[in-house]
Amino acid sequence: MIGRGISDFAGVTVQRCDTLIGPPLAYDLLDDATRRPDLSDALIQAIAHEMSADHSSNNIRRTYRGRYGELDRDIAGLIPKLLPDQEAITLHDAGASNAITSVDLFEAIRHLSQVTMVASDFQTTLRSVALQDGWRAIFGASLDLLQIVGPGIVLPVQLRRRFRKSPLVWLKTRLLAARLGPQAQDILSGIAPGQIREIDLFHPKARTLAQSEPRFSLQSADLTTLPAGSTDVLRVMNVLFKWPRRHRIEVYPALIKALKPGGLLILGSGGIRVNKHVRCTVFRLEGRRLIPVYECGDGFENRDEILAHWNGT
Ligand SMILES: C[S@@+](CC[C@H](N)C(=O)[O-])C[C@H]1O[C@@H](n2cnc3c(N)ncnc32)[C@H](O)[C@@H]1O
Repeated sequence: MIGRGISDFAGVTVQRCDTLIGPPLAYDLLDDATRRPDLSDALIQAIAHEMSADHSSNNIRRTYRGRYGELDRDIAGLIPKLLPDQEAITLHDAGASNAITSVDLFEAIRHLSQVTMVASDFQTTLRSVALQDGWRAIFGASLDLLQIVGPGIVLPVQLRRRFRKSPLVWLKTRLLAARLGPQAQDILSGIAPGQIREIDLFHPKARTLAQSEPRFSLQSADLTTLPAGSTDVLRVMNVLFKWPRRHRIEVYPALIKALKPGGLLILGSGGIRVNKHVRCTVFRLEGRRLIPVYECGDGFENRDEILAHWNGT
């Protein structure tokens, strides 16, 4: 069953996180992580370990501390080489989820005193609406309904789209939805009465860093509408690889236009499971052209696509 036993915070222990029985409820875990910083690293690791089994939400915050250790060090080495003599450098880690990997990156680059860093994600706050009988509806940025969470289960809202990908989960959630009956309809139509609670999706460590360090800040930002010429280094990890081609093609120009002249675009994925290898490409915007200047692993999986699309070769 999806998320069994973990919707109740009393059941979340360090031991439970170390030896997970079932996939966690991502949002519950993050909510708990916010209230219990002592547990948060274990919780994030737990999400990382279990996420391949978790089909409960398209928006699961799949990230964990230390995910890009080597890449972070490489970026710290590349900045002085590729952006020499610049008095002020802005680095934007976009699609950063709870921004724990941004905290890691900041630790790796903080000795470069001219660098300021922004970590952002589209979803930065969720609203959890407590309904009757322990059911909750989870709304994202733009108040879109993401999940319906019940005792021990998660109903993803976009059931139709999930059928081909995961028929068994689709079937299970349909059965559960049927069990919910009219209440499901009320929730889906937004008329079920309930109490709203805001859930901050940034990791407590990211919040603490942003409070104490003026060079590190947290924002809400959509990759498709980043301000033009706003950043020297833009990193987007583990976001585009799941997007359909037509959406990737749409977002490339937005990412490239967000760069200042000579800026660096870092795209990649990896660390899907803890310690699984990371792949990335660092591109530099030279005039109008995008030039790959560094790679790790096998490079960004859509490197040729972005180059062909942007450089027209
Ligand atoms: C798998 S997480 C990646 C987190 C982190 N970058 C990492 O690699 O560990 C993907 C994140 O991309 C975010 N995302 C999806 N579409 C986005 C968009 N259009 N703009 C900004 N963020 C987006 C999701 O909210 C999610 O938090």
